[in-house]
Amino acid sequence: MAEIRRVEREDVETLFALDQACFRPGIAYSKAELRYFLFHPTGISLVAADGDGIAGFAIAEMRMEHGQPIGHIVTIDVEPARRRQGVGRMLMRAVTERFREAGVARLRLEVAVDNNGAIAFYKELGFALEGRIRGYYLGRLDALVMARAA
Ligand SMILES: CC(C)(COP(=O)(O)OP(=O)(O)OC[C@H]1O[C@@H](n2cnc3c(N)ncnc32)[C@H](O)[C@@H]1OP(=O)(O)O)[C@@H](O)C(=O)NCCC(=O)NCCS
Repeated sequence: MAEIRRVEREDVETLFALDQACFRPGIAYSKAELRYFLFHPTGISLVAADGDGIAGFAIAEMRMEHGQPIGHIVTIDVEPARRRQGVGRMLMRAVTERFREAGVARLRLEVAVDNNGAIAFYKELGFALEGRIRGYYLGRLDALVMARAA
């Protein structure tokens, strides 16, 4: 079973390759974007790893909205060969625990309207549809906004 730990500088190349494997060009992060999110001071960046290496990672950040802290899920990426084994669920649980400790009461995220696997995953974890952002990805692909209590 994979264990959760904080991201380290040495992980960047592996996480970059994993993100490229998870998302199409234009949606996957550039290395500069990935570094920015991974090491942002208000961020939570966690890796799920075991003897077989890194199975997945999650990036989240805290935002203030109307004076309330919101936990924004930036991305969750699981290695294709290691999906449907509970890694994504484990990462989300770990992120949520850290957000709760920081006083976050609500989680929110954006997901591409055509990303059926991720939408099913988030619904399973209790996220509900809250809105839609036109052209959020590449100026032409809409995002669903999903949210739940932390
Ligand atoms: C979405 C993603 C993170 C899920 O990770 P995962 O480790 O496979 O998820 P889990 O094994 O923890 O799944 C938990 C539950 O979510 C649901 N679920 C997960 N993936 C699903 C899929 N592709 N289709 C339908 N339901 C799914 C299932 O109910 C699953 O439980 P089960 O396997 O016992 O049926 C992974 O598919 C992924 O990395 N996708 C590519 C990157 C991406 O789109 N990330 C989201 C960015 S917004």
